[in-house]
Formats: sequence, structure tokens, C-alpha cells
Amino acid sequence: MDASMEINQKSIRVLMFPWLGHGHISPFFELAKKLVKRNFTIFLCSTPANFISIKQKLINEDLTEKIHLVDLRLPSLPDLPPHYHTTNGLPPHLMSTLKKAFAKARPNFTQIINSIEPDLLIYDLLQPWAPKVAAEKNIPSVVFVTSSATMFSYMFHTFRYPNSVFPFSCIYYHDYELARMVKNQELEPIEQQQKDNTSVKLCFKRSSNIVLIKGFKEIDGQYCDYISSLTKKRVVPVGPLVQEPTSEDGNSQILTWLNQKSKGSTIFVSFGSEYFLSQEDREEIAHGLEKSRVNFIWVVRFPKGEKLKLEQALPRGFFKKVGERGMVVEDWAPQAKILGNPSIGGFVSHCGWNSVMESMKIGVPIIAMPMHLDQPLNARLVEEVGIGLEVVRDKDGKLDGEQISEIINKVVLDKEGESIREKAKKMSETIRVKGDEEIDDVVQELVNLCKTRSNVV
Ligand code: UDX
Repeated sequence: MDASMEINQKSIRVLMFPWLGHGHISPFFELAKKLVKRNFTIFLCSTPANFISIKQKLINEDLTEKIHLVDLRLPSLPDLPPHYHTTNGLPPHLMSTLKKAFAKARPNFTQIINSIEPDLLIYDLLQPWAPKVAAEKNIPSVVFVTSSATMFSYMFHTFRYPNSVFPFSCIYYHDYELARMVKNQELEPIEQQQKDNTSVKLCFKRSSNIVLIKGFKEIDGQYCDYISSLTKKRVVPVGPLVQEPTSEDGNSQILTWLNQKSKGSTIFVSFGSEYFLSQEDREEIAHGLEKSRVNFIWVVRFPKGEKLKLEQALPRGFFKKVGERGMVVEDWAPQAKILGNPSIGGFVSHCGWNSVMESMKIGVPIIAMPMHLDQPLNARLVEEVGIGLEVVRDKDGKLDGEQISEIINKVVLDKEGESIREKAKKMSETIRVKGDEEIDDVVQELVNLCKTRSNVV
């Protein structure tokens, strides 16, 4: 029996270290589930805020023996304010909360690695110091990028704030040049580009030759190849890593309401787990929904402690005007379950990468309204791939309700949008057939990395 098999049978112990926001922990959790199926044992770092919900998921899915939660004892990401045209990164008070969290992260993480002694570390690109801690114990590390390969490529070229805590302070779509640059081969050698790119540089210096990325060849495979060619590392998309809705995800009121609507007649409107809409945005979106000819479920979130009632947050008379056509839900709704309902014909989304992947996997076309970070790039990708359209803000960052209603109608109902709806359906079929196979490409390499370590120890 060769050494890799021995290790395989023993079950490789992997410590996973995501960035602390829900949008990162969630793909790590999905990757963990896939590795567990291939005989790995997982230790997943979490924060107190996410601990309870992940623990519950583990119990529901009977995974408590295979995925062990490790509490980092850190605060979760603070609420983020509405972002549209900011160029200065996060506001100072949020920066200071993050800095405090980071100050505790390293000693706590070091303790964890010492007590677990894993065979392998899989860490988030946004935790670039983690592989150094692992290297001190001779533990190999592999970086896992939870954003799109498009975004990751982009980071190489526009890294402007080397000293900021948050590695990519502000990216928005006027900067979107990558596709053109790739096409015209205008890129400088990566060493040049990376000069100031502390985070990415650290990650690449200390980790193995494999880069795992949440994605799917058919969508942004060309960008994976592109990063591979620049970094000389193997960039492997490990699938959409989308959560499957469970029976516990139900919200009977929403689902009963949805079940009364006809097929493809309704849109889901939601902007992820971290951001909040400004009052102006809410008003334009409300206007757009009211003018459109679709039914809708709209999730409206407020920062913690903001004591606004839905009636105050939305334009006067909104509920009366839309009547039975609309349902507004405060704070949170079971997104994956809603998107999977046959009545859903479109998704108005900020284009967080998880939301894009969920929508693609289910085959729901996207009306993109990006706000910040990778979202504008993801929105562009959605248009490029042909599974949705973007609502473009004016030069002052304002949305236009009239345009919103036109785009919703086009994507969901009108003949003009037929090819988009078809493309979304086709993409979903392809993902379902091929998406989960991609991780098999890399499992043996992970085993081999651990084998190298076991030979050294
Ligand atoms: C963050 C960043 O904002 C995003 O740009 C990046 O791509 C990932 O990290 P977030 O804003 O939360 O993520 O958006 P997204 O990536 O779409 O993840 C949200 C997740 O929460 C999805 O899995 C979605 O299904 C779930 N969700 C969100 C719900 O189930 N219900 C909700 O009401 C809101």
C-alpha cells in the first residue's frame, strides 16, 4: 500500500480557516462537506455569531462526527454601511473593530493549530498570515479563494491599499479593465504588478502550488487559466459550492404565498448578508418594483440597532399600491429555497458570489445591482455569460426606478429576454452535470501534500 493510501485511510485532518463573514464561512462549509465525502476529517474555524447556525446545520445533516467546529472567540464582521460610490474603503470605526479582531486572531489561531495539529491547512485568501503559523509546525497549506476567478485576477492589478486591513478596500466598476487587458495582452509581468500587493504576495509565497477557487470552469475557467499562467500555480475551480436547501429552511408564510403564484411570475429581491440599502436606493427599487409587471419578495435589512419600521423605510402607500403582488420580509429569508421555487422567474441581486452561484445552479436569471467589492465584476460576468442584465447607476451613483422596472420586465417576462432565460436554464443543467466533479481533480494532490509532510516529520 502506498503512503498516500495509508493517509487516506487514516483520514486526513484538515483545519479550515475562513474569513469571518457569512459569505466566506458558507463556501468553506460546503467545501468541507465535499472533502468529508472523500474521507477527510475537518476542523472548521468559526466565530461565536456563526457557531450556532453552523452547529445546527451539522446536526441536521448528520455531520457532527466529521466536521468539528472550532470557535475562534472573535467578533464577527461588523455591519457594513450602504456602499455605492465610496472610494475610501471602510469607515474608520469599522476598521478599528476589524483591527481589534485581527489582533486576537493570530494568538487564538496559533493555539488552535497547536492543539489540533492538522495534516493540512486550507485558509482564506483574506487570512494571508495563517500559512506562516502552519509552516512553523511544518503543516502544508492551501489557499482557498471564495470570490470569483475574475475578481481574483483583478486583485493582481488594482491592489491600491497595501496597508489596509481589508485587503481590497474599494473596487468598483469603472475600474473594470481586466477583460480588455487580457484580450489585448496588455498586462505587465505579475512580479511587477504584485509589488504592493502584500496580501496576495504573502499567500503565494508561503502556500503550496495549488490554489482552490470557488467557481466553475464554464463560467470563469478562462480567468483560472489566466491566473495559473501568471502565478505558475495550479488554480483549480472546486465547483459552485452552493448550499442545498433543506426542509428546515422553510418559512411557511413565504412558501405558501409563493406556491400561489404562477410559474416564473415572481422575482426574489435580496442583497446578501453584509450590506444595507440607502434610503434613496430603497425608494428607487420600490418604484421599480411597483411599476414592473411581476410579483416579488423583497428582503429589506437594517443595521443592528436601527429602529426603522418597514412602513417608514418604504415610500408612503407602497404596500397598498402593490397589494397581493408583493411581499416584503425583514432581515432574512431562505434564499436558496425561494430561488428553487417554480414561481421564481428572476433574482434582483447585489451579485455576491454566493448569490450568483446559487442563481446559476438553480437556473434563475439575474437582474444585477452590484454595490461594492467583487459585486460589480460579478455583475459584468453575469452579463458576459448571458444569464442576466445589470442595472447601471448614473454618474452620481443613483439608481433609476424606471430603468429597474424595464430591466426586470425584460429579464423575466418580455420576448427580448428569452435568450437570457434560456441561457440561465442551460447553465444550470451544465452545472448540475459537471459542477461537483471538479473537486475530484484536486483531492489526490491534497493527499500528496500531506504525504510529503508525513515523510518529513
Ligand atoms: C460577501 C460579499 O458582500 C460578496 O461581495 C462576496 O462575493 C462574498 O462575501 P454577501 O454580501 O453576504 O457576501 O453575499 P453572497 O455572497 O451573495 O452571500 C449571501 C449568502 O447568504 C447566500 O448564500 C444567500 O443564500 C444567503 N442569504 C442571504 C440568505 O439565505 N438569506 C438572505 O436573506 C440573505
